[in-house]
Amino acid sequence: MKINVFGFLATIILIVSLAPFSYASDPSPLQDFCVALDDSAAPVFVNGKFCKNPNMVVADDFYFSGLNKPGNTSNAVGSNVTAVNVNQLPGLNTLGISAVRIDYAPYGLNPPHTHPRATEILVVLKGTLYVGFVTSNPANPANENKLFTKYLNPGDVFVFPEGLIHFQFNAGKTNAIAFAGLSSQNPGVITIANAVFGSDPTINPEVLAKAFQVEKNVIDTLIQAQS
Ligand SMILES: *[C@@H]1O[C@H](CO)[C@@H](O)[C@H](O)[C@H]1NC(C)=O
Ligand SMILES: *[C@@H]1O[C@H](CO)[C@@H](O)[C@H](O)[C@H]1NC(C)=O
Repeated sequence: MKINVFGFLATIILIVSLAPFSYASDPSPLQDFCVALDDSAAPVFVNGKFCKNPNMVVADDFYFSGLNKPGNTSNAVGSNVTAVNVNQLPGLNTLGISAVRIDYAPYGLNPPHTHPRATEILVVLKGTLYVGFVTSNPANPANENKLFTKYLNPGDVFVFPEGLIHFQFNAGKTNAIAFAGLSSQNPGVITIANAVFGSDPTINPEVLAKAFQVEKNVIDTLIQAQS
């Protein structure tokens, strides 16, 4: 059998070059910490935030208080996410991790959304959640847009892989509470309904009518609902 040396080398180079990206979303820190400095007037942009002078760093830079308090769920979807990422806790800068508390009114929904930069691991503290995520469009049609769902009770843990569309619905008559860890200091969130039907300015309704294969008046209704 003839060995394809070029193909072999190309594969090795590919594996080696991709390896650093396969461990975490955010790059690994190059120092113990790099507490984010709030310098919005800075003339240059960096990927992340500037480091505070380490000699000036204090315990409070690594501290956040208030996740014992429920978020206000009196809104259209009946859920509220309280985030603790680098914007609330500057010590998270460069550490590739953050947290959220999610409150759900009875039958409240954390609507379908994705975190472009993070995998999420969710722990239910109270109530019963119906959760799920949908896979992307891989070459293998058998796995295309496959839905994985589960009912979760207190103590149950579920993971939403990075970038995939996911949701949580409070299936019970009582309030529900969950906490989650996310593998980025700044996971980002794209809420599908808001992004597609509530963009500023609006995406041309003809584009959306064709994409969703419905009449334009249906799109107008959906756009109206987001404004
Ligand atoms: C979430 O709760 C906080 C604290 O009660 C409140 O200030 C905020 O407006 C709520 N967000 C939404 C989207 O309802
Ligand atoms: C929750 O939000 C609603 C709607 O914005 C507001 O009327 C209500 O006073 C808020 N509740 C609390 C406890 O802040």
